Formats: sequence, C-alpha cells, structure tokens
Amino acid sequence: MIDKALARLLADGVFHSGQMLGDELHLSRGAVWNRIRALREAGIPVHSVPGRGYRIPGGLDLLDADVIRRRLPGDVVSGLDVLDVRHVVDSTNEVVMSSLRQGGMSRIAVLAEQQTAGRGRRGRAWASPYAANLYLSLSREFLGGLAAVDGLSLAVGVALCDAAVALGVTSAGLKWPNDLVAGGKKLGGILIEISGEATGSCVAVIGVGLNVAMSLRSDIVIDQPWTDLRREGMPDTSRNEIAATVLEHVLRALDAFSRLGLAGFADRWRRYDVILGRPVDVLVGSARISGVAAGIDAGGALIVNTDDGPRIFHGGEVSVRGSA
Ligand code: BTN
Repeated sequence: MIDKALARLLADGVFHSGQMLGDELHLSRGAVWNRIRALREAGIPVHSVPGRGYRIPGGLDLLDADVIRRRLPGDVVSGLDVLDVRHVVDSTNEVVMSSLRQGGMSRIAVLAEQQTAGRGRRGRAWASPYAANLYLSLSREFLGGLAAVDGLSLAVGVALCDAAVALGVTSAGLKWPNDLVAGGKKLGGILIEISGEATGSCVAVIGVGLNVAMSLRSDIVIDQPWTDLRREGMPDTSRNEIAATVLEHVLRALDAFSRLGLAGFADRWRRYDVILGRPVDVLVGSARISGVAAGIDAGGALIVNTDDGPRIFHGGEVSVRGSA
C-alpha cells in the first residue's frame, strides 16, 4: 500500500533526504525505505542518490479536492453533497455505494488515486494504476424507476466525449454502448450500477474511468487496445483540471438527462458514433449477428441493418468487421 504522506512529500519531484523524510513522517530510516520500496512496487520510479536522498523524476500529479472544487462553476459545486478525493480504494463505485447504504446524502462524487479492484463492464477488471488516470464515481437519484435510467449510460458517454474534446482530444468518439475511443483504441469507459425500486425511486452510481497517462508497466494487463489523453494530443493539463472538466460535463449531463432524457443527447451521439454506417458483428451470447450499424433508437438500443432487415440490440458486444 502506498503511503499517502510520503507520496505527497515526493510529489514535487525534487530530492528529499532519508533523514528529512523520516523526521517529517515520524518514521525510522528503515521504515522510510520500506515505504519507498512500496512506491517502486506500484510502478512509480523513485531515484535514490547517496548524499542527496530520494526523488520522483517529474514528480507526481496528485488530485486535490479543494483545487477541483475551485475550478468548478458555483452551480455545479452546490449541486453536490460531497466531493471527496480518496487515496487507495478498492473501487470508487463501491465507495459511493457504501456511503449511500449508510444513508443521508444522495449526490456524492468520489475520485481516487488508485483502485485495487477497479470494475469494468461485463465483469472485467479496470486497470487503475496510482496517480495515472481518472477514476470517478457519482451518484444520482432518479424518480420513475428503471425506465427513467434507460439510456443514461449513453448520455454519460456523450458527456465524457464532450469533456475529452474540451481537453483537446478532438479524435474522441463513442462506440456503442458507451466506450470512449480514439483511433480505434479505448480511452475511457463507464460502469453504471443501479439500486432501488424497479418502478419507484432508484439511485444510479455512475463510474467513469478515463485514461490520462497510462504507464507502460509490464504488470498492467489490459485485454483490449488502449490509449490515453496524453497520447491523443491533450496539451499539458493537470489531473485536477481534467477531473473538474469531466465532473462539470457529467454533472450537467445528469441534469439535462433528468429533464430531457436521451433525446437531449441524440444529435451529439450521432456525431460521436464511430461505428455508424460500418459493417459490424454483434455477439449476443454465442450468436454472432452481422450487419451495418445504423445508430441508436430512442431508448439507446443499437440498430443494425442485416440481410433480414433491421435488428435492435439492447446488449451485446460489438466489433467492427475488418478491424482488430
Ligand atoms: C468499462 O469496462 O468500459 C467501464 C469501466 C469503468 C471504470 C470506472 S473507474 C471508476 C469506477 N470505479 C470502478 O470500479 N469502475 C468505474
């Protein structure tokens, strides 16, 4: 486990002597050394030079809830009951869900530096290295039961794509249902977990993972081609700035979705849809259906024109034929 106080001291990228670190952290030199080793094991390069001490070349770009709050417009901040930055968690979705179970607040936003059990769609793991990307979960109550959240993940996808474009990644697009992609590679993803009543009030926990600057560590295994904001040409931007941009776009999208439903996002979805008009295979269970992607219906289901006419898909894994 990474020591938060040590990471903060070394975040400036300059040398700190072992003595100074020990004094600041009230630790022996040996205990400092053990914590340095934990940082290295997490993939963070810590240089040590005899007589000078330890430094992280380039420093660490750590999240700070106050900085994020200051960058958000007042009406967006006031719409949140909690905005919390955690250090290392299992999953930010899980953190928000357990806060909700404890009751009280309904509009919670949690970010973390690292997830040890980040969850992806379809039971996959979500690679979540320390201080590298964005791991964010938000909660929002919807009246009107499960029907009211139909299409929510597509609306959040549009918001995430808007945020990526605002951050300078103009190549960002969406692959149904809600993969954020650039150049055919995955840039981010959304995992929505719903609890509550089928017809009454329900709470959606909206988890957003956005690759910012993935490290090339050999122990990080991602089972699909991936990219990140830096590789896609984002100018130098702090993770706090990125977090504020994503939060603002997603929170405004949640308001718009409550008022307008998916209809408020249909035009932009169409603009961002990277599979529109392309030959696709849809894998549903063990069946593979081929056709040409023809956009989404009013509920966010995928329309595919097949030899037997149009077919509508509410789930399934889509791949573009002829691409990896
Ligand atoms: C996908 O598979 O495309 C969805 C990935 C969602 C990952 C995010 S990271 C923040 C939140 N916490 C999680 O455990 N998962 C989501």
